[in-house]
Amino acid sequence: MDISRRLELAMSATIDRAQAGGPGRLAHALNYAVLPGGARIRPTICLSVAMACGDDRPALADAAAVALELIHCASLVHDDLPAFDNADFRRGKPTVHMAFSEPLAVLTGDSLIIAAFDALTHAAPADAMRALSLVRLLAHHTGMPHGICAGQAWESEPEVDLRAYHRSKTAALFVAATQMGAVAAGQEAEPWQELGARIGEAFQVADDLRDALYDAETLGKPAGQDAALARPSAVEELGVQGAIKRLRDILSGAIASIPSCPGEAQLASMVQLYAERMTPVAPVRV
Ligand code: IPE
Ligand code: IPE
Ligand code: MG
Ligand code: MG
Repeated sequence: MDISRRLELAMSATIDRAQAGGPGRLAHALNYAVLPGGARIRPTICLSVAMACGDDRPALADAAAVALELIHCASLVHDDLPAFDNADFRRGKPTVHMAFSEPLAVLTGDSLIIAAFDALTHAAPADAMRALSLVRLLAHHTGMPHGICAGQAWESEPEVDLRAYHRSKTAALFVAATQMGAVAAGQEAEPWQELGARIGEAFQVADDLRDALYDAETLGKPAGQDAALARPSAVEELGVQGAIKRLRDILSGAIASIPSCPGEAQLASMVQLYAERMTPVAPVRV
């Protein structure tokens, strides 16, 4: 079974469990926030690392991948709220608060975060100690002081350190992806930190470039938001060429940072492919 099919099956099973018998509109909103997905890059990285490490407990790898994507979807639902970026559409359709209401969007994000942790506990019979490590990793990379919550909170500080902001807002979940893939397959987390950090930081620089250079139709979400909301961004700090250089510098060490594992060569090809795809092509809007 290919990775995307494997992921979608695991996602549907978790969402079905979270919806069953609950209030209809929130149940519908959970589905709406998660399906159809975006690029699913974090869970794809997680499963690719698990497979490169032998994938001896596939139920744990599936749960880790699902948990990451649910947290990511939750972070987008909350990020789009009027209290944050006030965005009207996402993934080419109205955002959850536009389609369902603000209270239901808050509850959708909350429910998805809880469903993410529940997915990990559900897979615990496969290996309870590994599942516990996965819960801790997910908490570390999602909350305070190092995770997404910390990252979003930098926007409320008077002075922002751009790299710290990008590291926690975005790279944290990519580090979670590489580390959780490895831990699900029985490996240590620490050697996988650098690969996740490099892909994640580069990903946010690329997102800043796309926000500045592309139009809303291409993006499937509002464009030009960093400038409009006066958000710190790689383009604002370094200019377009400087941001492209930063992106290349971060990615240049990514392949070399892959720890030795049985599927190292295949993983290296995948990282190379992502690195090429991430660098923006000719701008649609300047
Ligand atoms: C968007 O992430 C938010 C950022 C952290 C930049 P993605 O670009 O992975 O969003 P989807 O999941 O593909 O929609
Ligand atoms: C979203 O960051 C990151 C998180 C939700 C943690 P942005 O606000 O920069 O991303 P987009 O442009 O809305 O996808
Ligand atoms: Mg934001
Ligand atoms: Mg946003």
